[in-house]
Amino acid sequence: MTTAVDVRAAAALRRAAVRATLAPSVHNTQPWRFDLHAGALDLVADRSRQLTVLDPAGRQLTISLGCALFNARVSLAAANITARIERFPAGADGDVVARLHVEDGAAVRDVIGGYDQFLEERQTNRRRFVDERVPIDVVAALVDAAAAEEGILYPVRSEYDRLTLARLSQEAYRIQMLDAAYRAELRAWTSADSQRLDGVGAETVPQVSGEARDEIPMRDFDTSGAGGLPGDTRSSTKQCLLLLGTSGDAAAGWLRGGEALERVLLEITRHGFAVSPLTQVVEVPSVRAALRADLGIDWWPHVLLRVGRAPLAPASRRRRLVDVLNESV
Ligand SMILES: Cc1cc2nc3c(=O)[nH]c(=O)nc-3n(C[C@H](O)[C@H](O)[C@H](O)COP(=O)(O)O)c2cc1C
Repeated sequence: MTTAVDVRAAAALRRAAVRATLAPSVHNTQPWRFDLHAGALDLVADRSRQLTVLDPAGRQLTISLGCALFNARVSLAAANITARIERFPAGADGDVVARLHVEDGAAVRDVIGGYDQFLEERQTNRRRFVDERVPIDVVAALVDAAAAEEGILYPVRSEYDRLTLARLSQEAYRIQMLDAAYRAELRAWTSADSQRLDGVGAETVPQVSGEARDEIPMRDFDTSGAGGLPGDTRSSTKQCLLLLGTSGDAAAGWLRGGEALERVLLEITRHGFAVSPLTQVVEVPSVRAALRADLGIDWWPHVLLRVGRAPLAPASRRRRLVDVLNESV
């Protein structure tokens, strides 16, 4: 018999799936599916959306799923629902990365519910950022936000580290742009078609004039001049740069890394700052190895963040709920 408690749990889990779809994902691939069944929501990897050239191991796919998982957790916390999370649940289909169970009994307040109001506001902003320092207490709050999800957030402070990042970011950019398969995959996921519900919209990326000489290059989304934002991004070593990573470099670490990433992005949004994730520097294995060696870090970097102030960028697209949610309750 279905009880009022079951109905409330199903509604809360459906809302959690809706909120999860607002998460960032590499090339806006939205590599997720949601299966809702009695008292639980499964977050499932959609491997048909994996970037096989850029992301052969599925690291960025799993990080994207971790971002979606964090949003789902936030949604349940905001509804004062206590959830038990099983990551990579034993016995489940191999593509299930997390199962969220609604627990009976009194709710325990979880502070992450406070992020719910920022889920729509969070966005990737590829505009030029105004020169303004990010206060030290904000950076400290971001480091704490990452640590709360077992992530490591490394503020890139010394001149040596900044120049190292610039040099290696440029090297990764060059290597990738010479790779025809990388460019073809990028083109397949970038579009000026306003009806398309996934991929990176031309309106959200800077115009590629060939003149931008960014010290820390933004990914060139190859829109052949169709980019909707001004091309003058001036992404430089002077801006606030943060490197996010985890102690492990296997699926469990990637999923937690995604949860840490989304918590940091929402904390940045809460403080009114803009952010762009940049990942080219960790996508070329030899460059990623050089980054670890040259910065002298023994953990695994996943995402570089540039943080600053900028007007809002145009909104990104999302697939509809009916296309990603299966309900069997
Ligand atoms: C793992 C990961 C890697 C990403 N790498 C980049 C990147 O290198 N350059 C970039 O401009 N955006 C990058 N993004 C941002 C995505 O393109 C963005 O999340 C997606 O287009 C949806 O837009 P939104 O974040 O505004 O919702 C990345 C996002 C994730 C989760």
